[in-house]
Amino acid sequence: MSVSEPRIGADAPRIDAVEKVTGLQRYAADRRPDGLLHAVTVLATIARGRILAIDTAAAAAVPGVVLVLTHDTMPALGSVQFIMAGGHAAQSILPMTSAEVHHHGQTIALVVAHRLETARGAARLVSVRYEAEPPVTTLDDPRAETLLQEQAIPLPMMRDRRNGDAEAALAGSTTVIDVAYATPAQHQNPIELLATVAVWQGDRLTIHEPSQNSGAVRAGLARVFGIDPAAIRVISPSVGGGFGQKNALGAHTVLAAVAARATGRPVKLVMPRAQVARIAAFRPAARHRIRLGAGADGRMTAAIHEITQQTSRHDLMPGLGTEVSLRLHAIPAVQGIERLTRLDTQTPGFMRAPYEFGAAFAFESAVDELAWELGADPVAFRLAHDTDRDPVSGKPFSSRHLAACLERGARAFGWHDRDPRPGRMRDAHGRMTGMGVAVGAYKAARAPAITRLTLRADGSAEIAVGGHEMGQGLRTVVALTLSDRLGIDPAAIRVIAGDTASVPQHLTAGSWGTATVVPSVAAAAEKMRSLIAERAGQGGLAAGLSRLLAGNGGRPLEVTVESLAPGQGQPALDRLRQGLPAAAGPDYPEAVAMSFIAHFVEVAVDPRTRILRVVRAHSVIDCGRVISARTARSQALGGMIWGIGGALFEASEVDPRDGSFLNADLAEYVVASHADIGRLSAEFIDLPDPMPGGPGLNGGGLNGVGPNGLGMKGLGEVASVGMPAAIANAVFHATGRRIRDLPIRVDALI
Ligand code: MOS
Repeated sequence: MSVSEPRIGADAPRIDAVEKVTGLQRYAADRRPDGLLHAVTVLATIARGRILAIDTAAAAAVPGVVLVLTHDTMPALGSVQFIMAGGHAAQSILPMTSAEVHHHGQTIALVVAHRLETARGAARLVSVRYEAEPPVTTLDDPRAETLLQEQAIPLPMMRDRRNGDAEAALAGSTTVIDVAYATPAQHQNPIELLATVAVWQGDRLTIHEPSQNSGAVRAGLARVFGIDPAAIRVISPSVGGGFGQKNALGAHTVLAAVAARATGRPVKLVMPRAQVARIAAFRPAARHRIRLGAGADGRMTAAIHEITQQTSRHDLMPGLGTEVSLRLHAIPAVQGIERLTRLDTQTPGFMRAPYEFGAAFAFESAVDELAWELGADPVAFRLAHDTDRDPVSGKPFSSRHLAACLERGARAFGWHDRDPRPGRMRDAHGRMTGMGVAVGAYKAARAPAITRLTLRADGSAEIAVGGHEMGQGLRTVVALTLSDRLGIDPAAIRVIAGDTASVPQHLTAGSWGTATVVPSVAAAAEKMRSLIAERAGQGGLAAGLSRLLAGNGGRPLEVTVESLAPGQGQPALDRLRQGLPAAAGPDYPEAVAMSFIAHFVEVAVDPRTRILRVVRAHSVIDCGRVISARTARSQALGGMIWGIGGALFEASEVDPRDGSFLNADLAEYVVASHADIGRLSAEFIDLPDPMPGGPGLNGGGLNGVGPNGLGMKGLGEVASVGMPAAIANAVFHATGRRIRDLPIRVDALI
């Protein structure tokens, strides 16, 4: 051990970089236990209705087929509940438990064979007769049922947000804008598909699969099979992209486990991409109406943001977009109204800043429209509405450096060099160019965590954390923290993540991974340090540790800590142990904690073809303290790229005849590629958030800083929030056209 090891904030390499780029990293579908069988699913081709008859005789007769399951032959199972309704699952329906079809793509049969090719061929021989009902597939369909969210889901966090009398304030405003925006359904499309390898050994079940929430997969499976969660191990050490798609128990996991139990052999089920698009959660389509008012002094007086978002007929996936939009600017009277429209698709869910992405596009476009109407500079207008108090709750923000983000960004980007009039700037190729700005925010959430640290006589360390590595760099921030606190070489640190056999696993999502796990790791390091000091006396950690381990007969030293978010107590730890989401924030007892961002974008539009390019973008981020400079930069650029893809290309198109997602592959679901990305840069304010830690169980601040002792907020998702608005605002500056529907395609600019 040495004290010159990498510190918190260092630009150190990912600890798993070599493994990742050399293909050594093992993903779930790489597992090939002895006797492995392969499963293939047959999906429903109607959006709504029931199966009248399903004929599997031809499939079952194919040599090599071991099992064909349908609702007629499926064993009895317990039920699942939707994760947003108190359960563990991606949606509330368990396929093949009845003849009902709830969405196009619902699994209606499972074929298991010795070889994948056999199963795939046999699956095509399954024939089905349906009784179909006409589906409702778009938000604009007059037959669609729309609910007020606060009535449909009577929970405090689902209540419409309101501060002051926004309607009255609007009526008294000298300038009012009333505008509508639309954002499409989108799919995450991570490179790693949904995949499960299920292995029963007697009454014990092991599941290998990429998951952001192995604790929920375990708890949900325990209910489905009616067994003790302790008899199930879910292993998800590395996820090839989650993005919200893998944050609950999916039907594919249940089916693989059922097939493995029925056959007495390990079963692998990998969902092809086109099937993933039809069974997995996705970002729901939404419509926004925004009304903004301003007084004669040019200051905003009122904001009303109404969002209508798609859900399924069988579940209520909530929307929380106004939680972010109404917190961006000092507006004295604000109101947010959220509605849900039931459509006949699978239940939508989370995709990278699930509601914030669309909400900030709409709201920050509207703010730009108002600034233009008032003749104000868009950066100056936003700076004039900075605030250190949350406009929704009236509480102080724990920290907010949004003005610094805007000022630094404007300087670095050269904002003040622009001609403010739309349609006046040209580049060297004769293209119309424009500059846009927008801000964004995202909750600084944090979840309870249990961390176990083990030090061995050979100087190596093993640390088990309750979080998942999805490529965002969780292992790296854990190693950096341990290296910083105990002087351990990162190469000697083994980080165990996403394994229910280690410590309880919480959902890793909502950009709370680092702020959840790192303080818990730091607390474990502090506990280890005190243990060593107490048992081996002072005289330096290294000297104390080697003496202690020698005196311990070479046995390792182990400590476990429990950590909580501010305001949390024992119930949060209980939920964690039950595989239920238990995150807190952004509304903490003392303050509201948000990360903030300012985006600056330059676009160029060809005057003849109207092809639109993002030429360059610069974003400045206030995410509290940066723990790992390299992975933070990667998260920031990745989020900006999602913003470009979401603004210009990405949309999941539904066939209104049968409710199927049509562009269900990477050829037709267009994401941003290298050629679409200009010059990108990101910089961090990197000031620790000073909110004091919460009570109890290691929740207290370390170093006296931060909701988590280290001053972190959150990073992953804020990076994309507001980016599409900055692009749309730049398009307005380039062309004089306001584009209010995403994605912004060539046809919108003709
Ligand atoms: Mo993410 S959409 O918070 O899993």
